[in-house]
Amino acid sequence: MWPVASGCLSTHTVVLEVNTPMKIRAYTQQDKEDVISLWDECGLVVPQNNPAKDIERKLKVDPELFLVGLRENAVVATVMGGYEGHRGWINYLAVKPAQQRKGYGQAIMQAVEALLIKKGCPKINLQVRKTNESVIAFYAAIGYSNDNVVGLGKRLEHE
Ligand SMILES: CC(C)(COP(=O)(O)OP(=O)(O)OC[C@H]1O[C@@H](n2cnc3c(N)ncnc32)[C@H](O)[C@@H]1OP(=O)(O)O)[C@@H](O)C(=O)NCCC(=O)NCCS
Repeated sequence: MWPVASGCLSTHTVVLEVNTPMKIRAYTQQDKEDVISLWDECGLVVPQNNPAKDIERKLKVDPELFLVGLRENAVVATVMGGYEGHRGWINYLAVKPAQQRKGYGQAIMQAVEALLIKKGCPKINLQVRKTNESVIAFYAAIGYSNDNVVGLGKRLEHE
């Protein structure tokens, strides 16, 4: 695992210097096609979600919490953070399959956590399907525990 170095936070260029070959910065519109194809490759594009619409909505609310990780200028990781004044939220965490188990998932999570801490966020919540055991193992490895709550949802817009 790559250790985290002290880093400079900025919302525009590299947001967190981590001791890894992956650079992390905020999403820009030029990343759109690469990001959607990464999500597709990682199985995150599902019929009930429209990824392009999800990106457009995110760009209207705390866009600086939507991060991409780059290796040699190619998008290899994403995370979409959120904060509503009480809890931080994580969505669209993805690392390109060929680049998994190199510490990039942990690195991009550390970057978004640093930005959430900077906003005063005291706790992060996230939802993972119970059947997604490898992702649950990933989150456990980076310090997330089961809150033993039932996740409820109500769709307000049908994509
Ligand atoms: C979850 C995901 C982002 C992890 O990214 P990653 O870069 O491979 O993770 P890391 O290399 O930072 O892993 C850190 C630690 O988490 C644990 N971990 C990661 N993947 C794991 C797996 N498949 N099974 C068990 N433990 C795992 C390990 O302890 C790992 O440390 P190690 O490699 O030294 O053993 C990646 O598997 C992914 O993109 N999955 C598909 C998309 C997805 O399902 N996203 C979540 C939606 S809720």
